[in-house]
Amino acid sequence: MRNIVLIGFMGTGKTTIAIELSHRLGMKYVSIDDLIEKRENRTINEIFTKSGEEYFRNIESAVIRDVACMDNLVIDTGGGAVLRDENVAYMKSSGVVICLTAGEDVIMERTKKYKHRPLLNVEDPKRKIRDLFAKRSPYYAKADYTIDTGELTVRQVIDKIVGIAESKLKQKERPPDES
Ligand code: S3P
Repeated sequence: MRNIVLIGFMGTGKTTIAIELSHRLGMKYVSIDDLIEKRENRTINEIFTKSGEEYFRNIESAVIRDVACMDNLVIDTGGGAVLRDENVAYMKSSGVVICLTAGEDVIMERTKKYKHRPLLNVEDPKRKIRDLFAKRSPYYAKADYTIDTGELTVRQVIDKIVGIAESKLKQKERPPDES
């Protein structure tokens, strides 16, 4: 296991958890969205409105491919990063992929005060969340592990991920089966 990759719907806590987790494990925090904004020198909102979602997804794939060959990272991906199979393949080749999830009401509560997510800047964000959630569920199901953050504290989520990371490292250390 070289990296820990967090996937999941908007508002499931990926950024908060990834930053804290990177401190706890002494790994480097990397945000795919931040790298996209740096590469483009404009915000995600601007990219979506001026160049469209397809353009954004192309940059997203390129950034994921670049980051996947680095080491010792906690990688915070955008909610739609799982929509392309090639992205998921790069994530899996790079480390353990953990999906954070939460109920639609929790997601609505957590996202409603922010305006930086173009997909939720719509008249009926709740409906949008429900629609996107239904469409994306099969993609999130490709994760190696899933953790529901709705009822857990940040600390509890991190403890679970640390447990997963430790068991992965142990699996690696175990000598090959001689039978
Ligand atoms: C998106 C999620 C966002 C960002 C972009 C698109 C999505 O990231 O990548 O607005 O398609 O779900 P967060 O999940 O970090 O909000």
